[in-house]
Amino acid sequence: MNGLEDRVSGVLITKEEAEEIVAGLGAQISKDYAGKNLVLVSVLKGAVVFMADLMRAIDIPLSIDFMVVSSYNKTESTGTVKIIKDLDTDLTGKDILIVEDILDTGRTLASLLEILKMRNPASLKICTFLDKPDRRLAKIEADYIGKVIPDEFVVGYGLDYDESYRNLPYVGIYSPEE
Ligand code: IMP
Ligand code: MG
Repeated sequence: MNGLEDRVSGVLITKEEAEEIVAGLGAQISKDYAGKNLVLVSVLKGAVVFMADLMRAIDIPLSIDFMVVSSYNKTESTGTVKIIKDLDTDLTGKDILIVEDILDTGRTLASLLEILKMRNPASLKICTFLDKPDRRLAKIEADYIGKVIPDEFVVGYGLDYDESYRNLPYVGIYSPEE
């Protein structure tokens, strides 16, 4: 068989729980950013599902933008990112909220923060759907966290294993073939 759920060994976050988490984050962000110039910035592709849901859970004016980055990671210790597709938005004076699928080692985001800081935004914060603090290597924490999860490889709700599983409507634990 070649079903979408063949290698999914358990459900970590149900579709309903994901909806509740996003509603809570949206309400908090709407409150915190009232009267500001909110721009949601997301890194493709993992965060697209979360981004699409989160923006509709926020009831204040905002704009969105996307970027594509690739990690150099040749030395495994730097994690410097290279911009493949940059933002269209001028960040000067804007309140930037980076929308991420999962904060793992934190290397990608730490490097991205340095790049975006140089563009003089009024503020720069991070909203992540999932947080795996056990694996953190970079000194970085998110300002908004959907859910803290244990050190498991998860798929679904935008997250992939080798580009598959992004369309699962829940977050599942991936178990590789024996
Ligand atoms: P890091 O925080 O720089 O290690 O990288 C975070 C990125 O790694 C995320 O945006 C995901 O694309 C990917 N990633 C980390 N953990 C997982 C996981 O459990 N499932 C799927 N992708 C993951
Ligand atoms: Mg990925």
